[in-house]
Amino acid sequence: MTQYQLVTDDTVPLRSGVIRLHGPDAFEGMRKAGRLAAQILDALVPFIQPGVTTQAIDDLVRTMTFDSGAVPATLNYRGYTHSCCTSVNHVICHGIPGPKALKEGDIVNVDVTPLLDGWHGDTNRTYLVGEVNIKARRLVETTFEAMMLGIAQAKPGNHLGDVAHAIQVHSEKQRYGVVRDFCGHGIGRLFHDAPEVVHVGRPGTGPELKPGMFFTIEPMVNIGRPDCKVLEDGWTAVTRDRALSAQFEHTIGITDTGCEIFTKSLSGLDLPHSPA
Ligand code: MF3
Ligand code: CO
Ligand code: CO
Repeated sequence: MTQYQLVTDDTVPLRSGVIRLHGPDAFEGMRKAGRLAAQILDALVPFIQPGVTTQAIDDLVRTMTFDSGAVPATLNYRGYTHSCCTSVNHVICHGIPGPKALKEGDIVNVDVTPLLDGWHGDTNRTYLVGEVNIKARRLVETTFEAMMLGIAQAKPGNHLGDVAHAIQVHSEKQRYGVVRDFCGHGIGRLFHDAPEVVHVGRPGTGPELKPGMFFTIEPMVNIGRPDCKVLEDGWTAVTRDRALSAQFEHTIGITDTGCEIFTKSLSGLDLPHSPA
């Protein structure tokens, strides 16, 4: 049985497995954190070019985050020492920024989570590096569409299985594989909280959505099979078959009528490039 809890105090809670239902002040906090997260990803659009290293992306994300009065939630999170994740080509997620330069034709996902005034804004986008072939562009666009179709199902009375199903159906229609090993998550004062937000599933299953719930939707979609493997560094998740993988992530809050996307770009750059 899913348990829900109306959040009435203002302190950082422990992870308990209950799904928190937040009020207007929390929505305002998430709005601010989410807006900053989107602005950081917006600023990367002209910066992500062939020759740029993923470490340079991390440096820019860290500087922008601190300059805005926020802290990157990933910095020193479970031993992670960077301000974002940079996942190139066959890397599914949690790619560690480093000295390797991006090259023409790569796709790179950048995932940022500024912690602003106690609230987390968690979002990622997959960027094209220079000219990218149609096969990779299609994967990136389909993954974005899958996330948006999932978000369209995020309203009171629906279940997390409805969100998952929409994502799965759209991705599998193109014969892509949806990653099972990583999920979206509840979020708020905690970075990773209940519920677990799966990206494959059956309609009507899983927790029911209620106004005040905050969570991420962040599907990872592979050109090949869904299977993944984590590298020796303990973080980098790659596709087992080495085929390309893309991801998009928004942080949302359930409202009385649907949902609010806290991490929406105010510059129309949620999909950083124009569709093919
Ligand atoms: N931002 C990621 C997410 O969407 C989590 C990254 S944790 C890290 O949940 F430690 F790898 F950075
Ligand atoms: Co997330
Ligand atoms: Co993220």
